[in-house]
Amino acid sequence: MSQEPGDGGQKSEVACTECALRSFDRWASGSDNRFAMSVEYRPLTADDLEQAVFVESTAFYNRPTPERVQQTREFFPPEWTVGAFVDGRLVADVRTIPMARRINGGATGFGAVGPVACVAAHRRQGHVGRLLRLALERMREQGMALSGLFTPHDALYARFGWERAEAKKQYQMRPSDIRLRIKGGPGTVEAVGPDDWRRLDALYRSYSERRNGPIHRAEVWWRQSVLMHWEAATGGRAPSDAYVWQSGTGVDEGYTVYHAQPLPRTARFVPWEVDVRDFVTLSSDAYLGLWRHLLTHDIATRLSNHMPLDDPFPDLVEDPRKVEVVRNEGPMIRIVDVERALGMRPYAGARPVSFTMRVTDATAPWNDGVWRIEAGEGMLRVARQDGEADLEMGAGTLAPLYTGYMRPDVAAGVGLLKVNRAEVIEEMSQAFAVTYPPFSNDWY
Ligand SMILES: CC(C)(COP(=O)(O)OP(=O)(O)OC[C@H]1O[C@@H](n2cnc3c(N)ncnc32)[C@H](O)[C@@H]1OP(=O)(O)O)[C@@H](O)C(=O)NCCC(=O)NCCS
Repeated sequence: MSQEPGDGGQKSEVACTECALRSFDRWASGSDNRFAMSVEYRPLTADDLEQAVFVESTAFYNRPTPERVQQTREFFPPEWTVGAFVDGRLVADVRTIPMARRINGGATGFGAVGPVACVAAHRRQGHVGRLLRLALERMREQGMALSGLFTPHDALYARFGWERAEAKKQYQMRPSDIRLRIKGGPGTVEAVGPDDWRRLDALYRSYSERRNGPIHRAEVWWRQSVLMHWEAATGGRAPSDAYVWQSGTGVDEGYTVYHAQPLPRTARFVPWEVDVRDFVTLSSDAYLGLWRHLLTHDIATRLSNHMPLDDPFPDLVEDPRKVEVVRNEGPMIRIVDVERALGMRPYAGARPVSFTMRVTDATAPWNDGVWRIEAGEGMLRVARQDGEADLEMGAGTLAPLYTGYMRPDVAAGVGLLKVNRAEVIEEMSQAFAVTYPPFSNDWY
């Protein structure tokens, strides 16, 4: 842990962290930065983590606390984050968590980007843009061929090649209003705790195997991100509830994870919302059984669940109008490395196809140029080629085509894809066929 000059190592670790965080405050206020001399963009070291917590906390209107420093040390190796240092002090940073994203029965290295932050006094000076480029270079070097992020600032990330490329539906309903029209087979619902994460993981793995979008989850992700939730009332984290569905013959066939939170008081009673974090089923009995379980929350004013776009739940209930369906955003995705991302993607099309495409990518120049795609026998082959291309697009358009969020004919119809040989649109549709619409319920 770094120390303030002059404290002689006498203070406790927490006190040191507090005074370091106060000195960052002076720096970030801009009063110290009038004579800035040098700017450096580089991965963080362990000594930079307190500054990172200060930058990230203040950018998102949170308080930088010693507990946050401790959490950052525990969960995020410093080299996952790249920082902009002005005269040696951190003013902006971008973190990339290495993960893997499933598609068509395979997995591709995936860099989950977040947080992205710059202290207010140093914004709009290009620091974050430089850091996003550096993060992309490092992802490519480390084999992360795809990247994703959640943001309210689409225009910022679209400049650098991320594009909206996944979506989900959010259902909202008052549980006591809803009756299922179909009754599944018998089974039981069993409460489980964080130490049962492997049981949930086994179900999640089976479910994710052929899907398009789920990320691979490690134990720490299960414990910290799935089975814990942010509690608005206390500003802390609290455990979620988790339940496994077992068939009549005692086989695990699904699970759900959720938590209940109070909504603003409207009259005499405090209304409650049950917010579902995960809903994963391997059989129709589990699907119906776990929905029946959620609908027993009759004291809740609102039940909220995110599901894939092709989920049919409202059509299975007696009065579909009582289920409000809101289209919800997924992450923006970027193809970090065209050759690797396509080369690792299993082929789900019906027949062998080939075509050429020109990708324009100023932010990641290693992707720029003409690529020949040949697809068949379960795989895609990708090679550079000279000359004219059948199709032309920017790097941003490739992401929604890759995930199956947008069809090539639709992209061509709205001017995102330039078609030089009309018959190849169908070839491209085959090459980019997906087993499922893109969906993941993780957030990063
Ligand atoms: C959003 C934020 C990270 C941008 O940092 P920054 O250092 O100002 O960004 P840059 O100066 O590198 O800007 C790069 C480009 O993106 C543009 N840009 C920056 N913020 C933008 C925004 N919120 N919306 C749209 N475009 C934006 C800039 O104009 C610039 O484009 P240009 O080169 O065409 O002029 C910073 O304002 C911040 O920390 N905000 C609070 C926390 C936050 O919202 N983080 C992001 C959550 S996803």
